[in-house]
Amino acid sequence: MSYELKSARYLAREVLSQAIHAGDSAVDATMGNGHDTLFLAEQVGPAGHVYAFDIQSGAVESTRKLLESHGVLERVTLFCHSHEDLAQLVPSPVSAAVFNLGWLPGGDHRVTTRCASTEKAVRGALELIRPGGIVTVCAYPGHEEGDRERTMLISLLSGLSNRQYNVLRQSFLNAGPGAPECYVIQKSLYVPGTPGASVPHEST
Ligand SMILES: C[S@@+](CC[C@H](N)C(=O)[O-])C[C@H]1O[C@@H](n2cnc3c(N)ncnc32)[C@H](O)[C@@H]1O
Repeated sequence: MSYELKSARYLAREVLSQAIHAGDSAVDATMGNGHDTLFLAEQVGPAGHVYAFDIQSGAVESTRKLLESHGVLERVTLFCHSHEDLAQLVPSPVSAAVFNLGWLPGGDHRVTTRCASTEKAVRGALELIRPGGIVTVCAYPGHEEGDRERTMLISLLSGLSNRQYNVLRQSFLNAGPGAPECYVIQKSLYVPGTPGASVPHEST
């Protein structure tokens, strides 16, 4: 079978499908129409749990219907609430947290993720994940607030200790300045003081 390089969202899915196992907990920080929530619910299986957030009741209702039609609603908690409070609302730890920034496809473009609340939510997710856990963020810098979010993400994520997190940024360099980008952050398995433990990608 041939392999095709696909968009930011596909990279996030590929990584998440490796990182999430049956029985795990996961967070969808931007549920929208529920496609990522459904994907996470299928990954964690009947013994796992997903916590999903959106500030729009319409998004929560679409997601509820989608999950119900796939018979997985009971393994998901739906919050009609800003993701900025996820660290207070979700039991720790989780294996993964997913952010797909921007606005609801087909919805009001003014109701979009915002730099300040996105930063708080990403910081919360980084705390919430277990060692080895993953946070993915798909960012859309082709609009003003999305560009601010990208600037914030680069500053926040490049400042993380490489003893505690590994950070990957994927962008298609020839797709124009507003092309979607994917950030993948993994919390290190390294525990300081463990004899013989190595620090992945340490630069010093
Ligand atoms: C690009 S859509 C997400 C698409 C979704 N993951 C899917 O699979 O259909 C972004 C969503 O983020 C939501 N959103 C915006 N600000 C938010 C916030 N502070 N907390 C949680 N969700 C927010 C929007 O309402 C919108 O539904």
